[in-house]
Amino acid sequence: MKKVLIATEKPFSKAAVEKIKSILESGDITVKLLEKYTDVNQLYEAVADVNGLIVRSDEITKDVIDHAPNLEIIVRAGAGYDNIDLQAAKERGIVVENTPGQNSNAVAELVAGMMIMNARNFYDGSTGTELKGKKLGIQGFGAVGKCLARIANGLGMYVHFYDIFVPFEAGYEYNVFPVEDIKYLYKTCQYVSLHIPALPSTIKSINYDLMSLMPQGAVLINSARAEIIDEDDLLKMFETRPDFHYLADVAPSNKAVIEEKFPGRFFFTPKKCGAQTSEANNNAGTAAANQIVSFFLTGDKKYQVNK
Ligand code: 3PG
Repeated sequence: MKKVLIATEKPFSKAAVEKIKSILESGDITVKLLEKYTDVNQLYEAVADVNGLIVRSDEITKDVIDHAPNLEIIVRAGAGYDNIDLQAAKERGIVVENTPGQNSNAVAELVAGMMIMNARNFYDGSTGTELKGKKLGIQGFGAVGKCLARIANGLGMYVHFYDIFVPFEAGYEYNVFPVEDIKYLYKTCQYVSLHIPALPSTIKSINYDLMSLMPQGAVLINSARAEIIDEDDLLKMFETRPDFHYLADVAPSNKAVIEEKFPGRFFFTPKKCGAQTSEANNNAGTAAANQIVSFFLTGDKKYQVNK
């Protein structure tokens, strides 16, 4: 009998956990649960006897993998898999999968909410602005970018996207204008929302050269990864552009300086929470469970990301 560990430092909802368990158990799999762990040793101990692992943003390093001699599959219940050492997994022949698209609406709704909250001066009662008629640039037109385009269209925004991997035609369905030059996106759009992964090529790629192109009233939204921003340049942007606002899930490492010097011009979630809705928990968690069942049953590796 196969054994699967659900290891979530930030747990799924109770209802999602029940569904995940019942899917796995119906595939004849024994389920273990490790939630809210505070020490990596708890994870080392929990993975020691499992064949499969379901995680969220939990760091699955080579050390974790080394503590799991029977591990055959890791499913990241979510989109980004920069928290998993793909190479270490590959060297052991462990399949790594994600569950693309399953939590994207939740992230897009968080972005929309942060934009509205910022436009209304964080609901402090003073006169705010509206999003209708403003330009939104979406950098990275994957599942989250597309959900955000749908919402922004509903709000009456003009939406542009930039993505070197997505054909221009993809924008037509969403009433979105494709942009060939990233500088044009930043020059044109008062709002820019980031939806790119953290890769060697994208880490610190959002720098002063780009941000400073943004028009008056610039609002940059980062619900992707903190690492894609050049944080020194972010500070420079706050210093040189009094109109600039930054909304992020989750805070940059220099958050203390920003909080002290630039009140009213930022919002940082206390803990990464873009995907933290019961719907997203259900969707991503049950997709992960179904993928594991079909992997053990038929060898299906459709969502493998470490080929
Ligand atoms: C993702 O990559 O799917 C999101 O960043 C959500 O991450 P989480 O599961 O840790 O909330």
